[in-house]
Amino acid sequence: GPLFFLIELIMYDILIIGSGPAGYVAAIRAAQLGMTVACVEKGFVGGTCLNIGCIPSKTLLDTSLKHYKLVNEYSEHGIEAKDVRIDLHKMMFRKEEVIKQLTTGVEALFKSNKVNLINGSARIIGNSYVEVQSDDGNTKLEAKNIIIATGSSPSELEEIKIGNHVVDNEGALKFQTIPKSIAVIGAGVIGLELGSLWSRLGSHVTVIEAQKEFLPMLDQRISRQASREFINQGLDIKLGCETLKVKENSNGLDISFNYKNEEIALEVEKIILAVGRKPNTKDLFSGDLLTIDEKGFIEVDEYCQTSVKNIWAIGDVVRGPMLAHKASEEGVMVVERIAKKEAVLNYKHIPNVIYTHPEVAWVGLNASQLEEQEVDFKSGYFPFLANGRALASGESIGSVYITADNETDKILGLQVFGPSAAEIVQQGLIAMDNGVTSEDFSKTIFSHPTVSEALHEAILSMNNKAIHIQNKKKIN
Ligand code: FAD
Ligand code: NAI
Repeated sequence: GPLFFLIELIMYDILIIGSGPAGYVAAIRAAQLGMTVACVEKGFVGGTCLNIGCIPSKTLLDTSLKHYKLVNEYSEHGIEAKDVRIDLHKMMFRKEEVIKQLTTGVEALFKSNKVNLINGSARIIGNSYVEVQSDDGNTKLEAKNIIIATGSSPSELEEIKIGNHVVDNEGALKFQTIPKSIAVIGAGVIGLELGSLWSRLGSHVTVIEAQKEFLPMLDQRISRQASREFINQGLDIKLGCETLKVKENSNGLDISFNYKNEEIALEVEKIILAVGRKPNTKDLFSGDLLTIDEKGFIEVDEYCQTSVKNIWAIGDVVRGPMLAHKASEEGVMVVERIAKKEAVLNYKHIPNVIYTHPEVAWVGLNASQLEEQEVDFKSGYFPFLANGRALASGESIGSVYITADNETDKILGLQVFGPSAAEIVQQGLIAMDNGVTSEDFSKTIFSHPTVSEALHEAILSMNNKAIHIQNKKKIN
């Protein structure tokens, strides 16, 4: 047990638990607003996102894509490359350097903004008190406001435990050799990104998904194009799988599952478990200070305030999509509200990106959700195959799909599968956030040739004014 119990005499304006994109952004914004801030972190500064999530996955994805293109696409352009080799060690070293650069950047920002970074595990022991456990003993801290930003961890399955051959996102981002075969459990965001990453480097990847539908949040036209392309690239995606069984053998794992009424048996070197994530709330507070919902999230209102007025919770530990930008924006909102500023977050307009190749990106409601809500809407569509820039660079797979309200003409949703999908969705989102109508948007001049012109044409096609595609009176 602890040898001594230190009570710090400072009363912080804000004490933040966790230094992921939710916590560190909140800390910096609070310091900018002149508040005294402490941020407690039990692991690594930057949280999941910077250390074992967004950043390392994108670093390795980008590297693997360069390799994939060199091997599979460059010859189309008349570029022949022989003896292409992967130096996995160097690839991993570079990833570590990128992480280091960003996490030391956050630490430097903490210093310059006078955020007090405290290493240790925090537990809320009263409305205004937090106990921090570290190697140096226990400290009791006092704060006017507490912000919980403890993030999330990978969900596990009863029948498959993390171990030698079974890894989660953390393990899958640091394989020492390229596995010959991998089974990815879950065709969600992590499964598709990490499956693509290793498949591009030569692993045979089988993606085992329980649901029958592929990426159900997408419009069917987009999800069909995406699944066709990922299968083309070599991902063996199996939907609607049941009764998954796993047994370890001396070389790896024996897997069996039911697929389309057939029993499939596979032997693989590794399993990447990617079946969702769960909020981190274990040992976080004493008694029933805060309410946890049935899925384990801390209950908060639309402003991230808990049932205790001066305790707030943001990021992956509360409802809403588990995304870094959502987490950070909640951090800014909460801190500004504490500073008595008017701050709200438009939860309807949170953009999503899956960093496959090409990317999948979307925002707002999809067509079937609009139908369900009985919204009177129109839609526009444009394939990259008819876009000059996409053809020029050999990236013509995919399309843009957009919807707008028939009455107000305001844009309701945007889904893109194709080159620079994330950036294209962002352009549409700026229009959506500012109530731009499809008519207004049509008048914007787009540079030629750019892949963004596909967005322009999709919007034009919504009003039967597209130039480079046949207009239909009604497309849904
Ligand atoms: P976290 O980043 O999880 O940070 C929480 C921090 O709190 C951790 O550092 C933890 O150690 C600390 N902590 C927990 N409990 C305590 C305690 N009791 N005391 C002290 N400290 C504590 N999102 C995107 O938007 N884009 C992406 O491209 C993307 N890619 C991803 C790829 C992968 C492989 C994964 C796993 C996730 C990805 N995400 C991505 C999701 C993103 O990482 C999360 O949404 C984001 O990290 C959530 O931020 P957070 O601050 O709420 O939590
Ligand atoms: P997810 O919810 O996206 O996907 C999990 C998938 O596993 C689902 O399709 C689900 O049906 C399936 N599944 C669940 N149990 C299963 C079982 N027993 N057998 C087979 N399939 C099963 O969760 P994922 O991919 O783990 O990612 C977690 C979170 O991290 C996401 O919610 C996402 O927000 C975030 N993230 C975001 C990224 C991004 O923004 N690019 C990248 C990676 C993660």
